[in-house]
Amino acid sequence: ASYKVGYFVGSLSSTSINRELSKALIRLAPDDLEFTEIPIRDLPLYSPDYDTNYPPEGLALKEAISRSQAILFVTPEYNRSIPGALKNAIDWASRPWGRNSFDHVPVAVVGASIGDIRTALSQQSLRAVLSFCNTRQMTSPEAYIKFTPDLFPGNGEVTDKTTEDFLATYMQEFRDHIVRVLTVLPR
Ligand code: FNR
Repeated sequence: ASYKVGYFVGSLSSTSINRELSKALIRLAPDDLEFTEIPIRDLPLYSPDYDTNYPPEGLALKEAISRSQAILFVTPEYNRSIPGALKNAIDWASRPWGRNSFDHVPVAVVGASIGDIRTALSQQSLRAVLSFCNTRQMTSPEAYIKFTPDLFPGNGEVTDKTTEDFLATYMQEFRDHIVRVLTVLPR
């Protein structure tokens, strides 16, 4: 069997270091995880006025999550919290009330920063939101990545063996978490 993992990159930057991190994570993940990016760029800003008539972008987002057996969040930190574009996507997915797409979904959170805080506060904010959204979070291991162009030269490559092994272990642990959750809560 293989597992369908949808992933969010919480950045709209054309030079996103978190997109680069996502490439490394996908390359290092166990072979039985299949990854599909869930785009957030074209979503309008969420309003409850859309609840009775979701636009195609909102419907596509909810359908992409329902097709996924697990979700990976790879996100930067903006002003010590979640980037607005990612929070907006989560708000879309959580509605209309009673049709929260994240209910019981196995998830993991990871992020890269150029600063020493390494997205710790962004990840903590995101975990609080995902907790309310009733996801099944992998709480350990955590991964706070300090990005340098030397460490991630491109195409998912990682030049430091210790970092590469750590990211591979993180993805193996995510796989094990997915299997454990789906055993009790199949989707
Ligand atoms: C940042 N950055 C940043 N970094 C950090 O470690 N903590 C923070 O709170 C912030 N705040 C912040 C706000 C805004 C509006 C921007 C544009 C940037 C720097 C951030 O780590 C850096 O820009 C990364 O390159 C962002 O990740 P992506 O977009 O390249 O994936």
